[in-house]
Amino acid sequence: MKHINIGLFGFGCVGQGLYETINNSKNFSGEVTKICIKNPDKPRQLDDSFFTVVPSDILNDAHIDVVVELIDDADVALDIVTQALKNGKSVVTANKKMVAENLEYLVELQKETGRAILYEGAVCGSIPIIRTLEEYFGHEPLNELKGIFNGSTNYILTKIFEENIDYETALDQAQALGFAESDPRLDVQGYDAKFKLSILLTHAFGIHVPPSQIVNLGIDRLKPSDLEYARDKELQIKLVAKAVKSEGQVYGFVIPQFIKAEESLAGIQNEFNAVSLTGEFCDEQLFIGKGAGSLPTGAAVLSDISALSYDYQYEYKKHYNLGKLPFSNDPSIQVYVSFNRPLDINLQDFESLKSKFFCFEQSYVVGNIKLSRLLKASWRENPNVNIIVQPTFDQEENQRLSIEELELEVSDLRKGQEILEKISL
Ligand code: HSE
Repeated sequence: MKHINIGLFGFGCVGQGLYETINNSKNFSGEVTKICIKNPDKPRQLDDSFFTVVPSDILNDAHIDVVVELIDDADVALDIVTQALKNGKSVVTANKKMVAENLEYLVELQKETGRAILYEGAVCGSIPIIRTLEEYFGHEPLNELKGIFNGSTNYILTKIFEENIDYETALDQAQALGFAESDPRLDVQGYDAKFKLSILLTHAFGIHVPPSQIVNLGIDRLKPSDLEYARDKELQIKLVAKAVKSEGQVYGFVIPQFIKAEESLAGIQNEFNAVSLTGEFCDEQLFIGKGAGSLPTGAAVLSDISALSYDYQYEYKKHYNLGKLPFSNDPSIQVYVSFNRPLDINLQDFESLKSKFFCFEQSYVVGNIKLSRLLKASWRENPNVNIIVQPTFDQEENQRLSIEELELEVSDLRKGQEILEKISL
């Protein structure tokens, strides 16, 4: 195995995890020779001589073979990665936003420079899903990819459901444990999982779908009444990322979902992630592993560095070998939508409605809506509105409510509410 000199950008949670995994790996031949940091005044565990604040100390150092980029800022990360590849170095990164938003460019840049960029640590922490898709599933068509791609939200949901801990406390814990992003809105609003889904779409279906085209909803609007609804029906709630190939196109989204106890994703707890793949030949396979945390993510980065020692590169087999599948937001999904006031949503956006509960303080409807409508619906931004995917349950399959009749009911409710508001003024 070739000895690898590593230049590291960033020495936060994952950077320190990587350092520890390298020190404790018995057969990895390589070392971190320089670390570029933003804040030189922060106390560090390593000798000052390791650190620099000048990127070119790494990027222009001919002795450094591999640049490992583990910083927060996606724009700065892209500059570092670009410069490193152009300077003849291979790159490992765990920056999902940077990779997802620039994947097409990064594929071209690898062709141009002949150097590799690997990013297993960017998607589902320690689950080796990208290399599995690249190597094992390189030639098998996939029909579905779904899973839990964010450790922080899964940790929070586990604490809420299993231990009755409130949302804020659970989020604080996820941050303290180093699972959450510096800006935890990326986790709880589903952006982080969406970046990961966007990357996997390239490796699973051969298509580049910019994150902006994918609907993402988070767990930050969960209300006590939603939890009550789930508990009543013996359901869990998980933040699920999903992509499906259907009728010659692919659709996908990141939205919280009700899960039955017997479903495979129900057993995935705390910071664990899961990826379920359904192949045309192999049927379903489920991969489970820690999706966040210093050592699990550090281990994924180490595995990429080690793969570079035998000149491994992603081949993007499906991207190059398959006819281009279109990505579409035209399909509709069944959702449960809870809201405080009837004014909060527009029933006309739904294709059909299957059940409802209306009252002044807390209402919900269950119905089908096109992803494209959901993407554009302004009421989806309303903090009182919470949306959860509801797979079809047997007893509701044949029900269909009249949207017009419901509109009348809502209109009566609105009038009642206005009267109540006037009286209370
Ligand atoms: N914030 C991310 C998560 C870290 O919670 O999954 C790993 O990508």
